Amino acid sequence: MVKEFNIAEIREAFPILHQEVNGKPLVYLDNGATVQKPKAVIDAISNYYETINANVHRGVHSLSQWATDAMEGAREKVRAHINAPSTKEIIFTSGTTDSINIIASSFTTFVGKEDEIIISAIEHHSNIVPWQMLCERTGATLKVIPVLDNGELDQDTYAELLSAKTKMVAFNHISNSLGTINPVKEMIAAAHEVGAAVLIDGAQALPHLKVDVQDLDADFYAFSGHKMYAPTGVGVLFGKEEWLNKLPPYRGGGEMIATVTFEKSTYASLPHKFEAGTPNVAGNIALGAAIDFMNEIGLDAIASHESELVAYATEKLMQIEGMKIYGIAKNKAGVISFNIDGVHNYDLGVILDKLGIAVRTGHHCTQPIMDRFGIAGTARASFGMYNTKEDIDKFIAGVERAKNMLL
Ligand code: ALA
Repeated sequence: MVKEFNIAEIREAFPILHQEVNGKPLVYLDNGATVQKPKAVIDAISNYYETINANVHRGVHSLSQWATDAMEGAREKVRAHINAPSTKEIIFTSGTTDSINIIASSFTTFVGKEDEIIISAIEHHSNIVPWQMLCERTGATLKVIPVLDNGELDQDTYAELLSAKTKMVAFNHISNSLGTINPVKEMIAAAHEVGAAVLIDGAQALPHLKVDVQDLDADFYAFSGHKMYAPTGVGVLFGKEEWLNKLPPYRGGGEMIATVTFEKSTYASLPHKFEAGTPNVAGNIALGAAIDFMNEIGLDAIASHESELVAYATEKLMQIEGMKIYGIAKNKAGVISFNIDGVHNYDLGVILDKLGIAVRTGHHCTQPIMDRFGIAGTARASFGMYNTKEDIDKFIAGVERAKNMLL
């Protein structure tokens, strides 16, 4: 049931927001790094440890059954949330990085030295380095879709890069540094035309948008729990069943096997083939609680509230002399990266912190973007469902104050 978007009630649900930091009420604008957790998610974790805790898929005793049911229930919530056809296609991982590494590693057998992997110029390091490692292992070539000055990808060059040699195209749904929302569906369709598989890094998308993996036709879609109101250490890899059946497992161990002898082991069916070892049971259950929480508020309501915040903050920031915003794509979400002439982003971040305002500074794990724009880093304000225009007013006042102190 979708409730009315009631910002006071939403803020009430997040215990951490009601404290002071450095003697000032907390203004949390580092949601691109991780979001805060609602009480419902915190309760799901403590309830699990207080009443259910047991290992999953292993015991005949009641606690083990309850833990298994609760975790598999969460898997179903994830499936429904991204409209995947089957829970066999939902692999629990430790986060987006883990999800990408699973595919980049398992893909080794499908890539030869004549082949090419395409990524984009606005990727997080986690969607660059695993593909570089794959290329080093296989001798394949890494190609990069360039970024235009406004933060959008250069689609003409992308079309030229695609060829029969392309085995994998990997790019983000939303850039964590620039906020660009990529035209994912069109880019996937173009890759499929040449027979390439596509992996989407959705870490920054799930907190802000409705994602439908069938509509996008993504082969793989990776995301993290902690950026969508769930705990750290939990993530998801969606993969089309036909791909996951073909790919070899990434890790060996308990839970991922059907039979083991010293001569040979056989693997469990999906999704367990990719889930060696005891999973993060509490975290996975809490991810289900986070999905319930977001759906109660309504994904459309969250998206429209956040896009109002981005527009409001952008307009206010642009009134500050010497302001430069990086990433002005027509289709943008979640974050604003900026610098002020003569002000180091780190100094700005430290002064804002003294005022109780949390932003991220530096290269945001996207050094190639910083190189592209000829800068060492930016300050970045990023928004969540609980942020308000008052938060932004305090942030703008803080930026003005810091600028006056530093110049
Ligand atoms: N990827 C996270 C960020 O953008 C850590 O801050």
